Amino acid sequence: MSKYILSLDQGTTSSRAIIFNHDGEIVAIAQKEFKQIYPQAGWVEHDPLEIWSTQLSVATEVIVKADLTAKDINSIGITNQRETTVVWDKKTGVPIHNAIVWQDRRTSDYCDEIRSQGLAKKIQDKTGLIIDSYFSATKVKWILDNVEGARARAEAGELAFGTIDSWLIWKLTDGRAHVTDVSNASRTMIYNIHTLNWDKELLELFNIPEQMLPEVKSSSEVYAETTGNILAAKIPIAGIAGDQQSALFGQMCTEPGMVKNTYGTGCFMLMNIGKDPKIAAGNLLTTIAWKIKGEVFYALEGSIFIGGAVVQWLRDEMGFISRSADVETLAERVPDTQGVYVVPAFAGLGAPHWDQHARGTITGLTRGTNKSHIARAALESIAYQTMDVLKTMEVVSGVNIAELRVDGGVTANNLLMQFQADLLNCKVIRPEVTEVTAIGAAYLSGLATGFWDSVDQIRSQWKVNKTFVAAEGIDNTERIKGWNRAVKAARVNAE
Ligand code: G3P
Repeated sequence: MSKYILSLDQGTTSSRAIIFNHDGEIVAIAQKEFKQIYPQAGWVEHDPLEIWSTQLSVATEVIVKADLTAKDINSIGITNQRETTVVWDKKTGVPIHNAIVWQDRRTSDYCDEIRSQGLAKKIQDKTGLIIDSYFSATKVKWILDNVEGARARAEAGELAFGTIDSWLIWKLTDGRAHVTDVSNASRTMIYNIHTLNWDKELLELFNIPEQMLPEVKSSSEVYAETTGNILAAKIPIAGIAGDQQSALFGQMCTEPGMVKNTYGTGCFMLMNIGKDPKIAAGNLLTTIAWKIKGEVFYALEGSIFIGGAVVQWLRDEMGFISRSADVETLAERVPDTQGVYVVPAFAGLGAPHWDQHARGTITGLTRGTNKSHIARAALESIAYQTMDVLKTMEVVSGVNIAELRVDGGVTANNLLMQFQADLLNCKVIRPEVTEVTAIGAAYLSGLATGFWDSVDQIRSQWKVNKTFVAAEGIDNTERIKGWNRAVKAARVNAE
């Protein structure tokens, strides 16, 4: 049996490829950023062909970097930015529009409209989701309504819709497989998480023809093989999961009550809730975690739209730093924010507020405020938003969260992780392999091919790097009050 697994991690800002060995160790990594397209305020698009070309190029590069050939790869696992919507021509494999990214808010008004028709409960009961432009359904509808001739072509069976996993698999198999997995399907707002089917009533509501949808599979099975001319060998594609569900699996949160938070572009906290798709109250989502060997696991999710991206904003838009890593030094120049709060509601607010119209806000400025205070407040906003979600999750689940497993770029920042532990008053645990998103998909793939025998076998590969414990006797009351005031200011439409 070949000795390595190739994980393709297609994220919001870059395409990555990582090779893992049987011990779950990283053998090589390749990564390429691609263009973010902002056609109008609140709109975010990607070029699906650029996503494909960067993903293919890093896949090829990583095999070379690891000094391997395609024949050494046992199988491929795919994990991806979720909800982002691609519609393409089935004959030519050419997209009919740019991908509409999960952060894109162009369908907010339409979402308000369906909410005002009293459909929120029905949609949440079926899909576990809260009506929002974040999910794929209204993005597909927008493309069908706005690209000339698209609806007629979709009805004639000429067009395919897919999230990024489907799109990549279509390209990797030269159009032979049009599939997705349950975790990605559960982010579309047209998938019934109880019956595990595309929901006919919702398809009718959003006017989406069923013939354009991918077949929904489990998260761990052989879906197809890559065409031999793409990676110089036919490699089975055997694992798919949306990136947050993949991270939940990679963090080995395989038992109900276990929680992880991934600090990427956004922040996504997921709690494993086992096999019962209990619909969440309190503005959290219920989502499918994975389906492995016929068993479906569900998760509670709190989605924060801007997490690590606030550091990119400090770098690219504000020009405060030239490299993201410099934010820690800049923030450390001051001992606190002097009452400054940054609420990075650049794409509205997700959980637990779900306010599509909120906008980024800075409060508490004085004559003495400098870049360091703002940088520190921007970093702290990541921790405050996480706190809001964690507290809601505790109430909704009835579980007292004593441990939070963390991963993603900004978890390398010790200042922030300590602040996070102080604010949450729980243990914040960073694992040794922080590439948990990629390893989750690798595990799902290797479990399907017999590369790994069981979840028990891989569980022991997860190891702690550092545990951050809350400092004794900290009183957060005043700072939390200040944060709540700032959030209120960001919510322009709040009642
Ligand atoms: O739901 C959006 C999420 O999947 C994006 O994740 O890591 O690309 O920011 P990331």
